[in-house]
Amino acid sequence: MYSKKVMDHFMHPRNVGEIKDADGKGEVGSPICGDLMTFYIKVENNKIKDVKFKTFGCGAAIAVSSMVSELAKGKSIEEAMKITNKMVVGELDGLPPQKLHCSNLGADALHKAIENYLEKKKAR
Ligand code: FES
Repeated sequence: MYSKKVMDHFMHPRNVGEIKDADGKGEVGSPICGDLMTFYIKVENNKIKDVKFKTFGCGAAIAVSSMVSELAKGKSIEEAMKITNKMVVGELDGLPPQKLHCSNLGADALHKAIENYLEKKKAR
């Protein structure tokens, strides 16, 4: 069964959407189920000022995205890079074993968005 926190984030996901003029964008697909997660970030003074996501996936993947977005908001780039998929599952009070693969997308998509931001910054 899903924890109360998973159900809450699934029923009321935080930060859903897209940032049109995002500073970084990261997309990750699950090799297991084909679900897709995209993260958008806005960065100001080395901090994640805004974060939004779009997830085409199962309930667990939506809860994971929502939790990642909450954890990342306001953090510095360095701190956000330290968010792990395991940490996210912990914050959600766990996921059923057959749903653990869904958690592998969250932090990865966020990290990709950050890497995209850093690449763009370097190119400027
Ligand atoms: Fe695909 Fe959960 S079943 S991410």
